[in-house]
Amino acid sequence: MVVGASGLLGQHMMSAGNELGLAMTGTYNTVKEGIPGAIQMEITDPDSVSRGLEAACPELVVLCAAMTNVDQCEREPDAAYKVNMEGTLNVAAECRSSGAKLVYISTDYVFNGLKGMRYHEFEPVDPLSIYAKSKLEGERVTLDAGRGNLVCRVSVVYGWNRVSGKSNFVTWIVDSLRNGREVRLYDDQYVSPTYAPSAARDILELGLGKLKGVCHTSGPDCLSRYEIGTMVAEVFGLDASLLKAVSTAEMPLLAKRPAVSCLGVDLAESELGRPMTGLRQGLELMKASE
Ligand SMILES: NC(=O)c1ccc[n+]([C@@H]2O[C@H](COP(=O)([O-])OP(=O)(O)OC[C@H]3O[C@@H](n4cnc5c(N)ncnc54)[C@H](OP(=O)(O)O)[C@@H]3O)[C@@H](O)[C@H]2O)c1
Repeated sequence: MVVGASGLLGQHMMSAGNELGLAMTGTYNTVKEGIPGAIQMEITDPDSVSRGLEAACPELVVLCAAMTNVDQCEREPDAAYKVNMEGTLNVAAECRSSGAKLVYISTDYVFNGLKGMRYHEFEPVDPLSIYAKSKLEGERVTLDAGRGNLVCRVSVVYGWNRVSGKSNFVTWIVDSLRNGREVRLYDDQYVSPTYAPSAARDILELGLGKLKGVCHTSGPDCLSRYEIGTMVAEVFGLDASLLKAVSTAEMPLLAKRPAVSCLGVDLAESELGRPMTGLRQGLELMKASE
């Protein structure tokens, strides 16, 4: 069962599960169209969660649903904790009582980014924003609820969104450049861009295996947002002169972000027995499937 199948990662998780021949059930909250047979679930409502799990009887639940807008979480902390912590608790409690394994999708933003290098699973967390703090609570709730549960951290997820019009970092850059708009990108914020279709398959395979605890399942690169923009322009054949490098000090956002929140993916690569999908490969796959 994919909770949050109407979101970017969730929709690709559904496709990956179908390709693996699994019997999949997806849930949406407000976006009904696009996921055939999906059921409605509001994770902040324990009755809605138990109805959904009782109907689907899943062996494995992947929780992709979250309040994902980082600045909105900063403005609405109560709502952020309600969805990202309490909502996770509701799903985790239901999984515990039904015996399902829970895979929780988390974020590179649990780190403070001060190290200046990639983070591995065993390193201490120090979230800077309400979003990151509430997601870390979601991690804790997941791991407390069941010894076999798994937390998969991703970073800047990109890919085509076939379900809703919601953009992501890469589709926003592609769309802006195609429309001749200038794109200002941080050259002092480093992340590990994560191709949604690849991450979905990786996470499902890890979830179906014996791995438990925390695992980093992002892409393998460590790139600034400006460097990502440059590669997007190159692969899609767009005008890179519209990209403008800016610093986070010049153009601050409401919620604090880590300067370098790149993730080390050695554990996932050794568990899966293959390399994670790099940005160039992910962009080429995107271009080929437009
Ligand atoms: N996107 C990134 O760059 C990024 C980076 C790091 C980590 N992550 C994590 O990766 C996961 C997936 O992110 P995404 O970008 O794919 O998400 P997304 O596209 O923003 O989709 C969010 C999903 O959550 C559902 N949802 C939101 N509130 C809900 C509620 N109260 N009850 C039930 N469902 C609810 C939405 O349902 P409706 O649309 O139907 O309302 C949607 O299916 C999240 O846990 C996020 O924190 C994402």
